[in-house]
Amino acid sequence: MIEIDEHDKIFVLTGAGISAESGIPTFRSGSGLWEQYRIEDVCTPKAWRKKPGLVWEFYSARRAHAKTTLPNDAHKALAALETTMGDRFFLCTQNVDNLHEQAGSHRLTHIHGELFKSRCPDCDKVVNDDKVYRDLSEVGHCTCGAMLRPHIVFFQEVPLELDAVEDRIVKSTLLVSIGTSGTVAPANEFVNLARMAGARTVYIGLEAPENHASFNQVILGKAGEVVPHVFQVMG
Ligand code: OAD
Repeated sequence: MIEIDEHDKIFVLTGAGISAESGIPTFRSGSGLWEQYRIEDVCTPKAWRKKPGLVWEFYSARRAHAKTTLPNDAHKALAALETTMGDRFFLCTQNVDNLHEQAGSHRLTHIHGELFKSRCPDCDKVVNDDKVYRDLSEVGHCTCGAMLRPHIVFFQEVPLELDAVEDRIVKSTLLVSIGTSGTVAPANEFVNLARMAGARTVYIGLEAPENHASFNQVILGKAGEVVPHVFQVMG
């Protein structure tokens, strides 16, 4: 049980594991996405420069699949916790799906981008875009003329809104990380930042993450089964 009192400010970090029970594959399990595709072929600035068609093929397939998925009980429980706690709750997700929004979350940041948006590589304008492109010739263009790219933070690029996220972490009294392997920086360092600021830190997921030693408590289990019952809000 994670007790939350009236003085607590909670920072929740989610990863691919929270969407696994909704049918979205994680990245690093036996059948994970990075076992089927090479990161350097579809998720780096070089891949975008050399083979934008392959990059769009990968993210179009992910769009098509993500459109068929629904939030699970873990997404819904976090949306309910936000309703209870208001501005004392903040959600940071590494996931690019929109299942937190579908569940009703509002106070959230996608630090790795969003699947259902595209971005101009030249002027950085972001647009809503859920189209599934069969061919590069179908991909839309920005008003400035450049072909749109997925609004995804590729490897070697800087995650989004990091200053605001880190500011939020150091003001929090409790950090809860859910379904992330703790292998990708900088999100795997958030727990240490929270601890340095004096927060309690809890991990929830199927197995202990790589950075498990940094957590005060590790709760093993499926997000959809643990998250709906783990929070006890005292005030
Ligand atoms: P990973 O695939 O690395 O890790 C997923 C974690 O979720 C693993 O530790 C699993 O044990 C756990 N898990 C699986 N099913 C679960 C369930 N039902 N309930 C709870 N936990 C479960 O995914 P991330 O850590 O999110 O970045 O990966 C971080 C980033 O690496 C991603 O955002 C992505 C990727 O490359 C980009 O694409 C930019």
